[in-house]
Amino acid sequence: MSIHENPRLLVTGANGNLGRATVKNLLLAGATNVVAGSRNTDLISDLASAGANTTTLDFHNPGSLSASFRGIDRALIISLDARQGSPEERVRSQLSAVEAAAAAKVRRIVYTSMHKPEPGALLAVAATHYQTEQAIEQSGIPFSILRVNSYADNVFYWLPPVLASGRWVTAAGNGRTAYIDRLDVARVAAAALTGADELGCLNISGPEALSASDLVSLVKEVFDMSVDLIHVTDEERESGLIAAGVPSPIAKNLAALDATIRDGAFDTANDTVLRLTGTPPRTFAEFLRANRGALLNAAKR
Ligand SMILES: NC(=O)c1ccc[n+]([C@@H]2O[C@H](COP(=O)([O-])OP(=O)(O)OC[C@H]3O[C@@H](n4cnc5c(N)ncnc54)[C@H](OP(=O)(O)O)[C@@H]3O)[C@@H](O)[C@H]2O)c1
Repeated sequence: MSIHENPRLLVTGANGNLGRATVKNLLLAGATNVVAGSRNTDLISDLASAGANTTTLDFHNPGSLSASFRGIDRALIISLDARQGSPEERVRSQLSAVEAAAAAKVRRIVYTSMHKPEPGALLAVAATHYQTEQAIEQSGIPFSILRVNSYADNVFYWLPPVLASGRWVTAAGNGRTAYIDRLDVARVAAAALTGADELGCLNISGPEALSASDLVSLVKEVFDMSVDLIHVTDEERESGLIAAGVPSPIAKNLAALDATIRDGAFDTANDTVLRLTGTPPRTFAEFLRANRGALLNAAKR
């Protein structure tokens, strides 16, 4: 069977949120040649029941990579989370996956990157994405690099303390972020794997970009709660987080995130999700309304 009729599709990190949702989207769309890769296939037995083949896949284990990529036509390589080892270890692991794809003569790589990862980016995770993007481009394999904006889902990290304290401390100024629901990213990832053409490198963003003051208005509307917006400098943001008990490297990175937002790197609302999937992405307001109860509960903990 030719690739055009029924390409064999691999998704790495299939037990993660994005990987699992992408595999489900592929199966729902009728794909019949899907391989779900995970470090522990016991944890993705539901995907096997739904029709996926499963494979043990660990970026740290070269044998698992060559076995998993064998016979694959198109692969979604899901980037490692910042918690998965040092930046150097993560780059090495991600490059092992790209090398395994090249050795298996995979014909398309889809990779989950971030906005503006080029040298000079302030966020610690940027260099690992940029080096992986470079390796993909140099591999000669046609690619779709999805430079994903901030997940709306990250709101579970940063909004509960704001709801609990009634204070929003930010160094992001009037910078805006076009938050994107992770489930919309999964729909784009499935479309990028199955679509006729490679997409090159493109920003995946939500439909509207919001500043901190827009978010305060939204919190008022959705939670009927007033929040004081407190603008601080980068240094004050970092030292305030450290004083609140946040470990120094994380505090530094959160301050860098604010500075990156302020610089406009995430102000990229676009229609890419609609264009690639035919369905518009969820707005951040819709995401907040749908998760209102869970966010209020998180604020009580
Ligand atoms: N844009 C954003 O705001 C944002 C936020 C958070 C994360 N991200 C990035 O997007 C990626 C996917 O997001 P997510 O929500 O699906 O994250 P997630 O739920 O934490 O899933 C990450 C997955 O990475 C896989 N993984 C971990 N170590 C691995 C290894 N050694 N070899 C192969 N795979 C490994 C795991 O899959 P298995 O358990 O199946 O092996 C894990 O479930 C993240 O990993 C991160 O790079 C972006």
